Amino acid sequence: MSATPSSPISPSPAADSGGEPLELAHRFPGVRDGWARFDGPAGTQPVDVSIDATAEFQRSGLIANGHGPFPMADACDALEERVRAAVGQLLGADPDGVSVGPSSTAMAMRVATALARELVEGDELVVTELDHDSNITPWTLAAADAGATVRMAGLDPATGRLPVEAVLDQINDRTRWVAITGASNALGTMPDLSPVIEAAHAVGAHVHVDGVHRTPHRSVDLADLGCDSYVTSAYKWYGPHAGILWMRPERLQALAVSKVRPAPDEGPGRIELGTPSFAGLAGIEAAVTFLLEVGLDRIEAHERTCFARLLDGLLAIDSVTVYGPHDLVERAPTLAFNVAGRSPHEVGIALAAEKIAVWDGHYYALEVMKALGLDDSGGAVRAGMAIYLGLAEVERLIVAVDSLS
Ligand SMILES: Cc1ncc(COP(=O)(O)O)c(C=O)c1O
Repeated sequence: MSATPSSPISPSPAADSGGEPLELAHRFPGVRDGWARFDGPAGTQPVDVSIDATAEFQRSGLIANGHGPFPMADACDALEERVRAAVGQLLGADPDGVSVGPSSTAMAMRVATALARELVEGDELVVTELDHDSNITPWTLAAADAGATVRMAGLDPATGRLPVEAVLDQINDRTRWVAITGASNALGTMPDLSPVIEAAHAVGAHVHVDGVHRTPHRSVDLADLGCDSYVTSAYKWYGPHAGILWMRPERLQALAVSKVRPAPDEGPGRIELGTPSFAGLAGIEAAVTFLLEVGLDRIEAHERTCFARLLDGLLAIDSVTVYGPHDLVERAPTLAFNVAGRSPHEVGIALAAEKIAVWDGHYYALEVMKALGLDDSGGAVRAGMAIYLGLAEVERLIVAVDSLS
């Protein structure tokens, strides 16, 4: 069946959004080649100012190292401080808790490795089926090292959502940490974090939130949210490849991190191993400034308009199965789908022939695919919105998928 404008979601998505379309594609050199880049959940194209800032810093002569006796070293120190402040502003969080490393997985693994030294037999950790494996395996490894137990909160495969009760049921007075996603990188669903954080804190446990898929799509206020630790990856929000950990400063200070002796004993530097990528830091600073200038609320409105049409269009194609919720409630603009009679990889290849980039497989959301019963059949095709995409690209994707029926 052809995709039609008739809509089970929103007959007039533009009217639904309450926001003007963002015309920002010209700020992204990486999308000037005619490709429609729905692969943002795997990594976005960097914005012009971030690319320029990275190159400028490398050309400037300011590349040195921190804590030296000459002005270029001071410039490196100042850049680090500015990045902590900028990220603190983006996340609504204390800048003294911001540390930067190669990836969110690396930062989660560092935290978990340190945590293993605190845990004792009988302690429990809670993880969820909705999470990317980088928010599961670090904790299961830590628990295995310490003889602690891991409890897994199950998602509801019918809705693609993680019910709050499913997480609360796993929390008890032996719980030490709860690791939960801010948004699924496969289905887009965003769990209700506040009751989980409240319940964990009530038993003296801490909460680590994987904010990698949430940060590019929603404004975040960690002071308000109240979690203890949070990761986000700058390359998912138009910056360079880097992972950022925010941890409540006093909690970070207490963490038994692995570090070399001369590295700082205090502050976020204690979990940052070795010399940072100063060029990368310059790119992060510029990407944060860009995001704050555009505004997460405008980004959310624009992406909602486009995503509503994408969801409508795919749901209207008989041969397409869309996993997860068929609505716009509490979700990032990301969906997973399959086309009857085609493997997810075949769909990915066919769309690539039309210069449309999507992902196929499990995208490290192993438990999600298991819960959906897709782990042995190649997973699903994933398409996600980014701010350089508009309704024209969405129509291209819908038409291309429809033509595979
Ligand atoms: C939800 C989520 N968490 C964690 C990660 C891992 O991020 P990184 O590549 O920075 O380790 C990803 C990457 O795709 C992700 O989508």
